[in-house]
Amino acid sequence: MSKHNAIYAQRRASMAAQLGPNGIAIIPTAPERQRNRDSDFLFRHDSYFYYLTGFTEPNAWLVVTGDGNSTLFCQPKDLEREIWDGYRLGPDAAPAALGVQAAHPVTELDSRLPQLLENRDAAWYPFAIHEGLEARVGGWLNKVRARVRYGALCPEQQRDLCGIVDEMRLVKDAHEQDTMRRAAQISARAHIRAMQLSARMLRDGKDVREYHLDAELLHEFRLGGSQYPAYGSIVAAGANACVLHYRADAAPVRDGDIVLIDAGCELDGYASDITRSFPANGRFTGPQRALYDLVLASQEAAVAATKAGARFTDPHEATVKVLAQGMLDLGLLDRNKVGGVQDVIDTRAYFQFYMHRTGHWLGMDVHDCGSYIEPSQVGEVSERKDPLSNELIKNRPSRILQPGMVLTIEPGIYVRPADGVPEQFHNIGIRIEDDAIVTPNGCELISRGVPVDGGEIEALMRA
Ligand code: GLY
Ligand code: MN
Ligand code: MN
Repeated sequence: MSKHNAIYAQRRASMAAQLGPNGIAIIPTAPERQRNRDSDFLFRHDSYFYYLTGFTEPNAWLVVTGDGNSTLFCQPKDLEREIWDGYRLGPDAAPAALGVQAAHPVTELDSRLPQLLENRDAAWYPFAIHEGLEARVGGWLNKVRARVRYGALCPEQQRDLCGIVDEMRLVKDAHEQDTMRRAAQISARAHIRAMQLSARMLRDGKDVREYHLDAELLHEFRLGGSQYPAYGSIVAAGANACVLHYRADAAPVRDGDIVLIDAGCELDGYASDITRSFPANGRFTGPQRALYDLVLASQEAAVAATKAGARFTDPHEATVKVLAQGMLDLGLLDRNKVGGVQDVIDTRAYFQFYMHRTGHWLGMDVHDCGSYIEPSQVGEVSERKDPLSNELIKNRPSRILQPGMVLTIEPGIYVRPADGVPEQFHNIGIRIEDDAIVTPNGCELISRGVPVDGGEIEALMRA
């Protein structure tokens, strides 16, 4: 029995209480996916399923009824398969090991589900997550319907389980926060290691490639006990930093380049997400430092705006204000053409250099679940016209931050060469991204094991 079983049982109970007394919830884990012929992609459980069970084997389903009973379907014990693929918990051991009330072989799913669905009023499952699940549930319901003439009731409602569990996952408990702190600490060490390798290899006159730095990240992730990166690492040298979804590749890392690394490990099911932008050789040039300090100042403004009671959009708005002023001051935007700071904000002229939002929820998924709208104000709709696309956009009040919510704070600036843009800034891309746990009076930055101050980065790269 895992020491965390009480946590998963508590989550199942809390979810069950929201299904209605006659509701039933069905949650599969992720499918195994073939990579090629006999090789699969490394298996990664489904986040909802893991959140409710802590169980990481493939081919498993959880069924929870409104009275609080949980049934697990899992792979049956099979000596031959276990010789090839590894240990299976098996249904006999599952109740004691996981704290569920019953467990059956997953091979019995189709025969048992109609029975479990009978006489329930609502069937809950995660909508639009698992390909084919809707059809599968439909098949089971059809079997129940075939029995209504014998007096069985068939659920009349199918409801999206994500709404309930997303709200639960949005606020991280102490155990989750602790795991996320440890994930961020490992990732921070990995960033330091990659920075130091870059400077050292260039000092030694070596041919440095993006994949050399990626290798350092992976090494430190695994050394720290992480299972895998939480997302495809971005290691972007020079102009590649201006490609937002660039991946670690083979481009040379040159003396004089800025390198942007956006990488974070996943630890025990929880993601970290850190970006640092640093001079490949350990010394910023003047223009690089000017842009870097602007992004850092905008991040500081966003951090100051991140606290319980603030809106999710407040850090973004604080960032944009600082970036807009800086773009005017540095001549990236021409005052004579775009006007003052408020004009730059109103017309979204800053979008040329800053085209993404300042953060997202972080948790089991790197872009974690959870509504960005304040639930108590969902009916308060206003309309505005987007100044760039002219599209009419419906706005609802943004989420009010609560202690325990975790989000990233990740402003950036990406300067693609264009008419009127000072040449000294061309092809520089900078993003600084940290992970923040909301606290009653502010936020805890859990990813600052790697510094953000330009001088501190230079110092550690000299070491
Ligand atoms: N690494 C993904 C993101 O920053 O959103
Ligand atoms: Mn992010
Ligand atoms: Mn990131």
